Amino acid sequence: MSNDSNYLHGFTTQEQDRLYRQARFLESIIYRDVELSQVKHLLEVGSGVGAQTQILLRRFPELQLTCLDFSPAQIARAEEVLSVNPLAKDRYSIRQMNAMDMDLPSATQFDGAFLCWVLEHVPSPQKVLSEVRRVLTPGSVVYITEVLNSTFFLEPYSPNVWQYWMRYNDWQYDNGGDPFVGAKLGNLLLSLGYTNIRTQVKTIHLDNRQPGRRAEMIAFWSELLQSGVPQMLSAGYVTEETVVKMKEEMQKVAKDPNAVFFYSFVQATAMTS
Ligand SMILES: C[S@@+](CC[C@H](N)C(=O)[O-])C[C@H]1O[C@@H](n2cnc3c(N)ncnc32)[C@H](O)[C@@H]1O
Repeated sequence: MSNDSNYLHGFTTQEQDRLYRQARFLESIIYRDVELSQVKHLLEVGSGVGAQTQILLRRFPELQLTCLDFSPAQIARAEEVLSVNPLAKDRYSIRQMNAMDMDLPSATQFDGAFLCWVLEHVPSPQKVLSEVRRVLTPGSVVYITEVLNSTFFLEPYSPNVWQYWMRYNDWQYDNGGDPFVGAKLGNLLLSLGYTNIRTQVKTIHLDNRQPGRRAEMIAFWSELLQSGVPQMLSAGYVTEETVVKMKEEMQKVAKDPNAVFFYSFVQATAMTS
């Protein structure tokens, strides 16, 4: 992303709060296969408000973290939260920089990297992963968790949600992001010379078997959709009418006793050599 206005979700406090809830809600599925207990100094790229940072510090008590993010607003919120978290004391620093051009020395400091929901926002995921490779020492591990937005499905069928979602993805594409980058992680990592590349498709599939979690997910997804409304309206990507109908359909889904929520994302892990 070239500047803050190209970030679809915006930087309101409400949106920042959503990132904390999102991280906690998805913690079990994201971290199920993340093993960083042998890593000493982790680089977290696109750390945002520190939502994943808090989880990383809690799950891996030996870890030292350097976080980087483009946005001063996100960093300010992360500092606010981390500075009062006893688990974070003396264990992290946050740097403001562009992940596509890191102001960090090559191969000296970091033996691991963690990226979550960030490559979808950058014009060149390749540049970011190339920078990650440059700054990591050989034999480091990388974890990348990314979206694959074409996998979204909702029952009952909600045409305006669907239309809104497609435009949401168009907006992101047209503004230099990539809502489908998850599917490309294997190719990207391979082209940059990473080794031991593994990708996993992880699915959130919620139906009558988990009504509580389904309700939470639908509420959370409504917030996600709505976080893009101001940007999409002002750029003329959707009409007020579509937004109104999208919200109505989401409310209908929330009340439907047979609702289904389905979404898949991709998690990749690789090594540097
Ligand atoms: C959706 S948030 C995810 C934050 C965090 N990883 C999480 O899971 O909560 C994406 C973050 O990437 C940051 N970002 C986007 N483009 C960036 C770039 N080129 N360099 C550094 N950070 C960037 C944004 O400022 C934002 O904080």
